[in-house]
Amino acid sequence: MTATAPHGAPPPVDAAHDPHLSGAFEPVIDEIDAGDLEVTGELPPEMDGMYLRNGPNPRFTPLGSYVYPLEGDGMVHGLRVSDGRAHYTNRFVRTPALDVEVAAGRALWGGLMTGYTPGEDEVGPTLAHTFKDMPDINVVRHGGRLLALGESATPFRLTPELATCGRETFDGTIPAGITAHPKVDPRTGEMAVFCYGLEPPYLTWSLLGPDGTTRRNPTAVPDVDEPVMVHDMALTERFLVLVLAPLYFDIAAAMRGGSMLAWRPDDGTRVALIPRDGGPVRWATSEAYWSWHNANAYETDDGRVVLDYVQWSRPGGMSPDTGPIVGGLARAEIDPVAGTMSRRFLVDPASMEFPRVDDRRLGRRHDVVALGTITGRQPLVPGDHDAVVWLDPETGRTVRWEAPEYAVGEPCFVPRPGDDDTAHGWWVTFALERTDRSSCFLVFSGADPGAGPVATVRIPVRVPLGLHGAWLPTQE
Ligand SMILES: [Fe+2]
Repeated sequence: MTATAPHGAPPPVDAAHDPHLSGAFEPVIDEIDAGDLEVTGELPPEMDGMYLRNGPNPRFTPLGSYVYPLEGDGMVHGLRVSDGRAHYTNRFVRTPALDVEVAAGRALWGGLMTGYTPGEDEVGPTLAHTFKDMPDINVVRHGGRLLALGESATPFRLTPELATCGRETFDGTIPAGITAHPKVDPRTGEMAVFCYGLEPPYLTWSLLGPDGTTRRNPTAVPDVDEPVMVHDMALTERFLVLVLAPLYFDIAAAMRGGSMLAWRPDDGTRVALIPRDGGPVRWATSEAYWSWHNANAYETDDGRVVLDYVQWSRPGGMSPDTGPIVGGLARAEIDPVAGTMSRRFLVDPASMEFPRVDDRRLGRRHDVVALGTITGRQPLVPGDHDAVVWLDPETGRTVRWEAPEYAVGEPCFVPRPGDDDTAHGWWVTFALERTDRSSCFLVFSGADPGAGPVATVRIPVRVPLGLHGAWLPTQE
């Protein structure tokens, strides 16, 4: 990786032949508002709030390289539901870098794998030779802030109408940024975050109180001696849970023109249990595996930590190993005292991702995990699913909804107001029809999601496949 390209910016990639820039992933440019959308079935009259989903959506054709799911401009799609009616809104997350690209009418920053950053003559002194902000992965609302989140990066604050306010450093206390997957404790309202970086300290964690004030400034995780990629976290009553797979940033190799990321399975995968009260970090180690996403974690009466997560044998594209990558929903049981862990698949390994639980169960035992998965009836690239599966991790019972005609997104749980039962709520997601690429918002009943949508909201524009979302109730 070089800070500048001696021969100028790389040429645009061939977007039409990049599976994550075309088809169900093809970015959209227009920002629109559309109300009173057509509904098939019935939107639950008690459902009152907004589903927001972020995702990589390059405004201009990327230069030199494009790495899904780690880069692109952020676009937030919102579906507001109230009184049985639906309203759609979408907006780019307007970072300073995107603003200057819009002014220029083209991409100015190179793709991640090129390391190319534009100079002062192109982007002015403030942005010259900086890396581009990419708050394109997730959204969270906490402590009065609505945030668009990037990969261990400074979030951008949004208004409820999805206009961009600017960078959020939490009153200057967390300047380096936070994970795209913070976790909010539903009992205390506390939000736990972490951040990895290319320079020491390579991994830090922080806590924010329910009012959004910082309770713990960034605190280094000990025994992390080189930059390591950690995408997600989990939270229990006592611990932040961070899984450190052996995927390292290798800046020296990148400078020589090699890969910026190195997979070193001999190091194994380490799990850090970080006491929320600041006590000594406990570690457990296992054979190497890779994980993008956790579903949830909780503590048992005898002091073990249970972590449900999507396990992959290795990260795609980061290793010289060949052969299939095996993955599926798995459970790790960790003994914090002995420093040991066991792991097993909860179902036969099959391609599945984006695990979600009823967020009111975060940190406590959950009884259902919802994931996107595949029917196997058509070839799909990573991140594209044509089925949703709901799984009870205790019994192994699964319920599936298969929809090969759709590209379906991450499922997200919507509670029924005033009702604590997950089965009485709903699961929602965006979906895109594969042939005509029309889009819709799907609502499944929590009691019987396999029966298919109880409501389908037609969206008058295309909503590309993206990443993560959140349900924001009107009343909290
Ligand atoms: Fe993610």
